[in-house]
Amino acid sequence: MITIATKVKEVREQVKAWKKAGLTVGFVPTMGYLHEGHQSLIKRAVEENDKVVVSIFVNPMQFGPTEDLDSYPRDLEKDSALCEATGANLIFHPEPEEMYTDGFCSYVDMSVLTEELCGLSRPVHFRGVCTVVSKLFHIVTPDRAYFGQKDAQQLAIIKRMVLDLNMDIEIVGCPIVREADGLAKSSRNTYLSPEERKAALILSQTIQLAEQLLQSGEKDAATIISQMTKKIESEPLARIDYIKIVDAMTMQQIPTIDRPILCAMAVYIGKTRLIDNTMFE
Ligand code: PAJ
Repeated sequence: MITIATKVKEVREQVKAWKKAGLTVGFVPTMGYLHEGHQSLIKRAVEENDKVVVSIFVNPMQFGPTEDLDSYPRDLEKDSALCEATGANLIFHPEPEEMYTDGFCSYVDMSVLTEELCGLSRPVHFRGVCTVVSKLFHIVTPDRAYFGQKDAQQLAIIKRMVLDLNMDIEIVGCPIVREADGLAKSSRNTYLSPEERKAALILSQTIQLAEQLLQSGEKDAATIISQMTKKIESEPLARIDYIKIVDAMTMQQIPTIDRPILCAMAVYIGKTRLIDNTMFE
């Protein structure tokens, strides 16, 4: 059985022993309820490192007051079986009190990149992500850490944070894993009713439309966004939070496709907020 550490001290001791033996350590931070998207990150980490740590922690700090912290799905038994079968060596599954001790008041706060896209509708989200990921990096001290392109803004932010704060960790971005019909895999897909699940296909279909336009040479961001908006609006259960084209590094909106870009969107299907994106160089 794979070891599940609940204390910071246990993780530190295990990782120290591995490092003393000259072994490299890969790290995959998650909030659990693992699916093939998470698994692709773990697989890649297993291929590229001697030992792999997966953290499973539903981080309260990155949820806003009206968001889904309490209803966020959890299944530690299934998650640990998946981690073990995929070749991970250690799960870190702390209680919130282990991560945020009494009197906690230190934060990692980033500007610019966090002020666009999801940062606008989720104002405390990225401060919570940067703070918890920094803490996890200090606890696990990995050589490499793996993040999905599914959360493209998060990946860009973590890369920037590691650069800005001189963290000696290689950040590896991994492609989006999708269902057979195109929907990006997400723990939040479990919230969808059968009817909403069908309607949710509009996200990946709209991303495909954007890819076609970009590949055909369309350079005007407004034209692409307006066609995407029309497509989403054709689905009665969908409500747009945002559709934007931004510079892939800075996350700032641009009018013309003249550099590597991220085309990203967040769309509500019923009450469930889903995201999808594509990169274009
Ligand atoms: P979570 O949503 O559990 O995602 C953990 C990692 O899995 C993230 O890097 C995410 O981008 C990746 N992932 C999720 N779905 C994916 C998919 N369909 N294809 C590829 N990768 C996918 O992201 C978080 O947790 C948290 O914010 C965290 C970084 C753990 C900090 O709390």
